[in-house]
Amino acid sequence: MRMTVIGTGYLGATHAACMAQLGHEVLGVDVDQSKIDLLKSGEVPFYEPGLPEVLSRNLESGRLNFTTDYAAVAEFANVHFLGVGTPQKRGSYAADVTYVRAVIESLVPLLEGDHLILGKSTVPVGTAAELQELADELAGDKANVEIAWNPEFLREGYAVKDTLTPDRIVLGIRKGESSAEEIAREVYATAIEAETPFLVMDLATSELVKVSANAFLATKISFINAVSEICEIAGADVTQLADAIGLDERIGRKFLGAGLGFGGGCLPKDIRAFMARAGELGADQALTFLREVDAINMRRRDHMVQLAKHACGGSALGKNITVLGASFKPNSDDVRDSPALSVAGSLSLAGGEVTVYDPQGMDNARKVFPTLTYAESTDDALKGADIVILATEWQEFREIDPVRAAELVADKVIIDGRNVLPVQAWQDAGWNLTALGRSL
Ligand SMILES: NC(=O)c1ccc[n+]([C@@H]2O[C@H](COP(=O)([O-])OP(=O)(O)OC[C@H]3O[C@@H](n4cnc5c(N)ncnc54)[C@H](O)[C@@H]3O)[C@@H](O)[C@H]2O)c1
Repeated sequence: MRMTVIGTGYLGATHAACMAQLGHEVLGVDVDQSKIDLLKSGEVPFYEPGLPEVLSRNLESGRLNFTTDYAAVAEFANVHFLGVGTPQKRGSYAADVTYVRAVIESLVPLLEGDHLILGKSTVPVGTAAELQELADELAGDKANVEIAWNPEFLREGYAVKDTLTPDRIVLGIRKGESSAEEIAREVYATAIEAETPFLVMDLATSELVKVSANAFLATKISFINAVSEICEIAGADVTQLADAIGLDERIGRKFLGAGLGFGGGCLPKDIRAFMARAGELGADQALTFLREVDAINMRRRDHMVQLAKHACGGSALGKNITVLGASFKPNSDDVRDSPALSVAGSLSLAGGEVTVYDPQGMDNARKVFPTLTYAESTDDALKGADIVILATEWQEFREIDPVRAAELVADKVIIDGRNVLPVQAWQDAGWNLTALGRSL
């Protein structure tokens, strides 16, 4: 099939390359010329394991191309995926749907014939119906445009696998006449043949599926982090507790990793947007618990800063503090709302000499916090540290040899913000190790 992908960020670039990998002919479009230039030359503008290979292979095959020209998009295909950003609005909890609307405003007046726009961005419930109205106004006599919603569940770090072999495909379609299901079945034929659940529902439900999934995941993380606060005071161990409750299959161990909490370009803004939308719909009480989920999560960062100051003898002033990690999670260079950078920034503002190292997130981190010191490597970062904080659980950090690391630092003090270090080995090497939610 021929299709376009509008917005080629983390979601869109991955979707475009993977759709080409599945055999489709794909044109990606973005308003950011530099991003398009990179993609056209086979370079992924962000870190995503496996994506550079899929991108190059499909550029070479001729099935994949990129442009900034909306007229080319309108010409190229009758199926369009919409994957532009929906960030948190300034000064509000609500999602900013300006970019999503801008796509409809740019594209629809150029269309002729029958077109299907499949929204993938995460949007407040009701957005797709509003976009349909907008498209109907702009379409004129020459075009018939349908808006359907096909929310995206990919995880950064596993984006290629999640796009090629998703665990479910959700499709929201309008009432009455719709060609979306037939077209989506063709787009996702490979996954459907592999018996991937394909769930068709109304537009509103499909929009809510995505934000509900993220709200649930955020709640699960904040749940264990709230319990972790109690564990610390009561002298209990949150990791053993999580193992024990996680064995109940109704609960499950995944997303019960107590630590520095969640961040990134999705969970924080999605739970806030969900609350804001509930308020607009007159159901604000329904989701007030998400405010607590958010507060527990943000408290983790403060708690880490306090622990670090305590480990420094009461004040961060003039102390050499090494923060391992800048991205919001491993296998990503995404530093949007990153807990690691938030902690690094706070300790720097508190007078600490903060050095950061991250295997992939350095360039993005420098843009957000240019005043921090950035090391060349883990070893470089550890040199002369009075205290080390493990803030993002990259495999490289999990595998640090505590004996070797001990030779590099000034003081053998480490706080494991992700509960991933082998405690015994670090203690045997003479380290004073603190971990969130445990008394060691
Ligand atoms: N990143 C993820 O892991 C992920 C997962 C699931 C859902 N989502 C959702 O997908 C959407 C996109 O997220 P992202 O992380 O890819 O964001 P992103 O910021 O990386 O990418 C958005 C892209 O859209 C482009 N853009 C903005 N306005 C445009 C326009 N009018 N026309 C064409 N391109 C335009 C931007 O230049 C940018 O490249 C969001 O709604 C997000 O919540 C993201």
